[in-house]
Amino acid sequence: MPRKIIIDTDPGQDDAVAILLALASPELEVLGITCVAGNVPLALTAINARKVCELAGRRDVKVFAGCDRPLARALVTAEYVHGKTGLDGIDLPAPEMPLQKAHAVDFLIDTLRAEAPGSVTLVPIGPLTNIATAMRKAPDIVARIGQIVLMGGAYFEVGNVTPAAEFNIYVDPEAAEIVFKSGVDLVVMPLDVTHKALTTRPRIEAFRALGRVGEVVASWTDFFERFDMEKYGSEGAPLHDPCTIAWLLDPSLFTGRRINVEIETRSELTLGMTVADWWGVTTRAPNAYFVGDIDADRFYALLTERLARL
Ligand code: BDR
Ligand code: CA
Repeated sequence: MPRKIIIDTDPGQDDAVAILLALASPELEVLGITCVAGNVPLALTAINARKVCELAGRRDVKVFAGCDRPLARALVTAEYVHGKTGLDGIDLPAPEMPLQKAHAVDFLIDTLRAEAPGSVTLVPIGPLTNIATAMRKAPDIVARIGQIVLMGGAYFEVGNVTPAAEFNIYVDPEAAEIVFKSGVDLVVMPLDVTHKALTTRPRIEAFRALGRVGEVVASWTDFFERFDMEKYGSEGAPLHDPCTIAWLLDPSLFTGRRINVEIETRSELTLGMTVADWWGVTTRAPNAYFVGDIDADRFYALLTERLARL
């Protein structure tokens, strides 16, 4: 039986690769894709998610639009990384598949109530606004969530959007606080691990050799790589969001620790910081499995093998 997941996303080229990896993998059943404002405004993320489904030949996937702004703050976007469309690279046709009529938050609530308790995994790879809104609106769903496997936060690598904070958490820290305090079984892919999942020329050329889907993926990574290579002086760019899906497919690619993680919501200086008790220096109860390392060669091998199926 495939594992049932809902991907909550703000595509974003790395989100797009995560969606492709999930759609290419028979171990996973994508119940729906819920879009949120983040890398670019909601109107664009809801278009981009459908473009990606169509690229994968999957017009049957249900795509929902959700919250268009964070719970308590103005939206911060990241066109400087992802381009004006959020999906700059090879131009994909405007999607023909419809956006679902229901709001993403209602879809999350209805699905979690309809499916067996514990049987649905949420995979948030953007700001946590939709997930937190669903938890606030329908507290009964919290106990029904099997697991949340999210991309967000940082500890050793500290921030990418401020010196202290990672983008997804920084954009909506109040939402992140709700999710991290929810008591749901959390798996967290912070920058500490995604910055070890770097693109390299041979890895990108392996994508490009796959045909249409691989060429598009290579054009995406070529686009956002420039920004990260300039910023970090690294060999390539981190492919953040697909780490979540790879975890679901093969957790042996990763190592981490079960620790306490709290979200800073008040300090101007460190807003959105994931205060991760990696060394166990407090008595705060662990609330997350915080991933720290990845076998990047095996990760890229898995990704390439799966993209080849599309
Ligand atoms: C996260 O922020 C976004 O720009 C990426 O899509 C990823 O989810 C990395 O900080
Ligand atoms: Ca994202």
